Amino acid sequence: MPEENIKIYTLKEIAEHSNSDSAWVLINEGVYDVTKFLDEHPGGPETLLDWAGKEATEAFEDVGHSIDARTLMEDYKIGELSEEDQKEKPKTNGNSSNCCWSPYFLLPLGVALTGVVLYKLYSHIYK
Ligand code: HEM
Repeated sequence: MPEENIKIYTLKEIAEHSNSDSAWVLINEGVYDVTKFLDEHPGGPETLLDWAGKEATEAFEDVGHSIDARTLMEDYKIGELSEEDQKEKPKTNGNSSNCCWSPYFLLPLGVALTGVVLYKLYSHIYK
């Protein structure tokens, strides 16, 4: 879809398209009209309908859709989520769960290092 035809939709407008007569899903700030795709969806129409009218990024990412699926979805893009609603959207949505480096892996590393240092110290003292 050409950039100049991108429309802006609010969460409220998207929520009005939640059945097989008109099914929109919101994935990564993109709005997709999947009404005509329901019967073609390899994951079945029901899985799509479950998410119609809603933020479906997490569900979409959890399935691990292929590059082909991601290319295909562009055919169904009708617009984007309004900036206002992007701010409102809870940040737990989206692919936050499989994103980003976390410093917590340093914790076991620290424990292991302390163990080694203590062991060296004790073996030195009780030599
Ligand atoms: C525009 C949106 C979507 C498109 C174009 C799309 C497309 C596809 C395609 C092409 C496949 C076949 C496997 C692959 O190539 O990855 C697939 C499988 C599947 N999709 Fe989607 N999908 C969309 C949205 C969703 C959503 C919102 C869900 C919600 C959970 C979903 C759930 C599934 C499931 C469960 C499968 C089956 C996976 C399997 O059997 O391994 N899809 N989809």
